[in-house]
Amino acid sequence: TKAQAWSALFSEPMSDLVKRYTSSVFFDKRLWQADIAGSLAHAEMLAAQGVISAQDHADIQRGMAQITAEIESGAFEWKLDLEDVHLNIEARLTQLVGDAGKRLHTGRSRNDQVATDVRLWLRGEIDLIGGLLTDLQKALVEVAEKNVDVILPGFTHLQVAQPVSFAHHLLAYVEMFSRDAERMAQVRRRTNVLPLGSAALAGTTYPLDRERVARTLAMDGVCHNSLDAVSDRDFAIEFTAAASLCMVHVSRLSEELIIWMSQNFGFIKIADRFTTGSSIMPQKKNPDVPELARGKTGRVVGHLMGLITLMKGQPLAYNKDNQEDKEPLFDTVDTLKDTLRIFAEMVGGQVNPATGAKEGGITVNAQAMEDAAKKGYATATDLADYLVKKGLPFRDAHETVAHAVKAATAHACDLSELPLTVLQGFHPQIDKDVYECLSLRGSLNARNTLGGTAPAQVRAQIARHQARLAG
Ligand code: ARG
Repeated sequence: TKAQAWSALFSEPMSDLVKRYTSSVFFDKRLWQADIAGSLAHAEMLAAQGVISAQDHADIQRGMAQITAEIESGAFEWKLDLEDVHLNIEARLTQLVGDAGKRLHTGRSRNDQVATDVRLWLRGEIDLIGGLLTDLQKALVEVAEKNVDVILPGFTHLQVAQPVSFAHHLLAYVEMFSRDAERMAQVRRRTNVLPLGSAALAGTTYPLDRERVARTLAMDGVCHNSLDAVSDRDFAIEFTAAASLCMVHVSRLSEELIIWMSQNFGFIKIADRFTTGSSIMPQKKNPDVPELARGKTGRVVGHLMGLITLMKGQPLAYNKDNQEDKEPLFDTVDTLKDTLRIFAEMVGGQVNPATGAKEGGITVNAQAMEDAAKKGYATATDLADYLVKKGLPFRDAHETVAHAVKAATAHACDLSELPLTVLQGFHPQIDKDVYECLSLRGSLNARNTLGGTAPAQVRAQIARHQARLAG
């Protein structure tokens, strides 16, 4: 028996430890569909170019059909000795169809093969993620639509700043997730390019038709430099960067959900199935899902660091370092997909098949939000703007209102609860119309600039998102 699967050159077999260390089949078998699709496209082209016979091509097709069935049924035997997904499938093919199987690798290397597989696989995952991002945005827009007139204290520095529509706040996340979707679409363009035909690093001596293979695989084009094609993983790094940003957005939302559902805020509730109890404290319902999402963000950002560091010291062209691209990439995809799915459901709820209505999304306590907004002098800026409209320079108005806030704080009341005579003590131009501007709703309505929180603006944004996300 040969010492190695691939050559008579080796005088001793690999140690078991080295086998385990270098083998990737237990994680890269996940690429099997892409691997077979790439092989079939390559074989079809080899036949069309007269490099292999029509009979060889037919044999390869027949063998791959059987391998597909075996893998799908779980009957396929993955062997550690055969190192990776590529060699496992090729070895089985040769077992099944003989010489045609041995001809498949003509004009090809595992270097261009694996780069093609990862790109094909990632392209499919990016498409799924695009759909999940749409679902999450739709869920947020649905909740927003029901809460345009609900007033939330907007925070800066986690201190009450100005009142905002709760819908406006949710739509901020819709903007973030829409940019994430855009980034994913851009990464897809650079991912969906064909390395196959670059062979090990320098191209090949056979008359390959690379454009044909690209068309068969529905790729947008071919890599134009064989060294680059087999060695760079920038598309995977870019994807992980886009995924990291997306997870950071989820993480910020998580942080807010956690704060909002704490007893001290009481702004929202999430459905019980997204919370867990405590093994000691009987009263607890803990926000485990958003907390885990926040934690898993660290994990995905870690994968970005792992992948980008993987590239930095590699001379051209392919190095085995690149085998380490897969686990971080796979885990990034799995984590992001699960997170997006669970968030769409946690925010927007689930369709009840009996009624067709969505149930179990977040529950909003509008009163608690409004009470909190009233506590923090959220309309102080409005009073300053009021005085500016009466002719005061803004800086003077700012100072005047600071005195009013100080007085209200001393009386433990809101600005709107100070009697008119007291307010007039701060400035004689203050009139009874001031109470409209000191109300939360008046403050909201007044911010009617494009992108502002006035209900009219928020409704316009909801309509824009609905049109964008439809279909
Ligand atoms: N399993 C390898 C990887 O993931 C495939 C390419 C191996 N190429 C090689 N020359 N050893 O990168």
